[in-house]
Amino acid sequence: MSRSAHPAGPRHADVLPEGHYSAPPADLNALDPKVWSQTVTRDEHGVLTVGGIDVKRLAEEYGTPAYVLDEDDFRSRARAWRTAFGEDADVFYAGKAFLSRAVVRWLNEEGLNLDVCSGGELATALSAGMPAERIAFHGNNKSAAEIRRAVEAGVGRIVLDSFQEIVRVAHIARELGTRQRVQIRVTVGVEAHTHEFIATAHEDQKFGIPLAGGQAAEAVRRALQLDSLEVIGIHSHIGSQIFDMSGFEVAAHRVVGLLKDIRDEHGVELPEIDLGGGLGIAYTSDDDPREPHEIAKALSEIVTRECEAAKLRTPRISVEPGRAIVGPTAFTLYEVGTVKPLEGLRTYVSVDGGMSDNIRTALYDAEYSVALVSRSSDAEPMLTRVVGKHCESGDIVVKDAFLPGDLAPGDLIAVPATGAYCRSMASNYNHVLRPPVVAVKDGQARVIVRRETEEDLLRLDVG
Ligand code: LLP
Repeated sequence: MSRSAHPAGPRHADVLPEGHYSAPPADLNALDPKVWSQTVTRDEHGVLTVGGIDVKRLAEEYGTPAYVLDEDDFRSRARAWRTAFGEDADVFYAGKAFLSRAVVRWLNEEGLNLDVCSGGELATALSAGMPAERIAFHGNNKSAAEIRRAVEAGVGRIVLDSFQEIVRVAHIARELGTRQRVQIRVTVGVEAHTHEFIATAHEDQKFGIPLAGGQAAEAVRRALQLDSLEVIGIHSHIGSQIFDMSGFEVAAHRVVGLLKDIRDEHGVELPEIDLGGGLGIAYTSDDDPREPHEIAKALSEIVTRECEAAKLRTPRISVEPGRAIVGPTAFTLYEVGTVKPLEGLRTYVSVDGGMSDNIRTALYDAEYSVALVSRSSDAEPMLTRVVGKHCESGDIVVKDAFLPGDLAPGDLIAVPATGAYCRSMASNYNHVLRPPVVAVKDGQARVIVRRETEEDLLRLDVG
């Protein structure tokens, strides 16, 4: 690995430009277990290992960039959610965070259900053997073909998102001579404390049917009249990367209020409520996420209390964590290509990927951590911005991060907590090829999603 010296970049706190960082961490070689998956450590040479394999070997064998996914970590997080919610509740993993056939099999083995939101996700789930009755089908504009396929497959629930969709699903189920289990997605009018683009329970956005003005009650009224629908419950998802449970509290209060109104008007007590996903994870050491058992306890207490007050039987609760299961299980492994110190500003570190494998920084101003992983270093901390190889100045992977001052081309660096919404939102921008997902476990690595090739790109280009 080549290591060239470069002029000293800006390093000291008194000359640091504005940014999201605080002081440089005391030890740049330390790996905070909050942001790295459970089997990550450094070997005696300072090289990061995961699942018993060192990253230099992974880079040699699979190339960079690569998403490296710790299977034991994934399974143990999935199991922790399952155990925390117990037999009286259901955990639906939100496939949009990251979905592949291997993941579907792991979820199946660990006893989780699956939330899909497109025909493609449904096809992946079914092709990997997820029983259809354990699949929930979401989306604010499911096509007739997607609905038909879901009903034919026998999905356990379709979450209805609009008045038109109530009619569409009822019609298709009737045609197919079946009765489809459905939930109705409502917006409870909660302002979740998260980025505007990932908040979903305030009224002025596209998802769900507002409780306000009696619209959700009207939707339930209509759905209950349709014989080909079995209304099993109400669904609410308030947003993503949320740490504060108070939004869920308000949501549960309002959803239970609707259940009570339904009971009073129709004499039926709907048996289920789904409180969605959205629980936050640690992207940097400043984030303090809650453990699944704390979340399960808090949600079940809220729902039980609200139902007691409304004199309702407590419904079966379900949740849909995506990020909280898969997010912390993977890191992206990059090779450093260039190191460019800009005097008085910061040092730009260019890697061999970028916004095509992680759009979250550009899209949500997301914060990430980063570490030098092919060796340890005692060099002074250097303020860096980790950027990609795309033709765009907003192509930033990690906005503000300290890396060792002797960082050089050929070094491997890794960005942790990229398991959720990175591969699943990856693009081919600039015809850059999407990286593989390599799963590691017990000293073995295997590709679960292969690297895209130029042939893959050209195969679609039929002009
Ligand atoms: N359930 C429903 C109905 C959802 O819409 C979502 C996420 C989830 C569950 C899972 O949320 P999670 O637990 O993963 O936060 N691309 C954005 C996140 C968009 C989330 C969309 N829906 C990001 O990268 O932050």
